[in-house]
Amino acid sequence: MSRKAILIDCDPGQDDAVMLLLAFGARDALDIKGITTVAGNVPLAKTQRNARIICELGGVTDVPVYAGCDRPMMRHLVTAEQVHGHEGIDGAEIYEPDLPLQSQHAVDYIVETVMGAPDDSITLVPTGPLTNIGMAVVREPRILSRIHEIVLMGGAMREGGNTTPSAEFNIYVDPHAADIVFRCGCPIVVMPLDVTHQVVTTATRTAAFAALGNRVGKSVQAMMEFYNRFDEEKYGTDGGPLHDPCTIAYLLNPTLFRGKSVNVTIETQSELTMGATVTDFWGVTDRAPNAVWVHGVNADGFFDLLNAKIARLP
Ligand code: RIB
Ligand code: CA
Repeated sequence: MSRKAILIDCDPGQDDAVMLLLAFGARDALDIKGITTVAGNVPLAKTQRNARIICELGGVTDVPVYAGCDRPMMRHLVTAEQVHGHEGIDGAEIYEPDLPLQSQHAVDYIVETVMGAPDDSITLVPTGPLTNIGMAVVREPRILSRIHEIVLMGGAMREGGNTTPSAEFNIYVDPHAADIVFRCGCPIVVMPLDVTHQVVTTATRTAAFAALGNRVGKSVQAMMEFYNRFDEEKYGTDGGPLHDPCTIAYLLNPTLFRGKSVNVTIETQSELTMGATVTDFWGVTDRAPNAVWVHGVNADGFFDLLNAKIARLP
């Protein structure tokens, strides 16, 4: 079976880091063209560094890493050090990696790579604010015909917001970029809090990463122990939701997930509900469906897949 060509855009963040490691463990199925980074969980200088740290952790030195936008398209940057720590991937070893940062801007790289690809051939996997993707669409709309689908982590409906009562972080940080993406016409698969809150890294699941016996498993366990504490206190749960790996898990085994084709419209006017993903789940408007809203997952199957791929790494 041919490998799926993907471009990952992220803001590491511990859950972005696990998403990358899942992808690294599945390179027999995924042709990772490149990794672009965006300001989000922590400022860009750290998200781009963190992506390179995770590449080295996973033993991946042949995938280029790019830095993109250091702020949202219209609004001031909002970060999430309270969740992810000052360095963004606290729990992991933090250092200046040898793996170089590419000099080309991530938006230019996305445009150049997608324009150089056959029609309908590239899958975009954004797991942070959608600034780089929105900017690429504005810069070169012709990329849209070459994008097979966009599988993104963001949004919330039944779960409510995690950053404001009505907005999830990735969409809240750059609602204008999200609005561009959700109106772009490409097939979109959304992994919102409605599904990511069903894949909770409990203490047992966290310990299972370390039990894999490899360097990556131990680092994932340490990152999860740091990362879980915020959501455990917030939600009173055993562990925290593992948001971003849902995107890659979907690409590897979509049967683990259940979704529905709906219209998703982004709030960009009201400060009260800024960044809300207004999801017409029951078709009560005449707004045409523009995304598959994923709302169910086989959580044990998800973690079995994640462990199997991480076990392949150093
Ligand atoms: O709301 C969760 C999302 O925001 C995740 O992608 C997390 O990494 C942060 O970017
Ligand atoms: Ca993220």
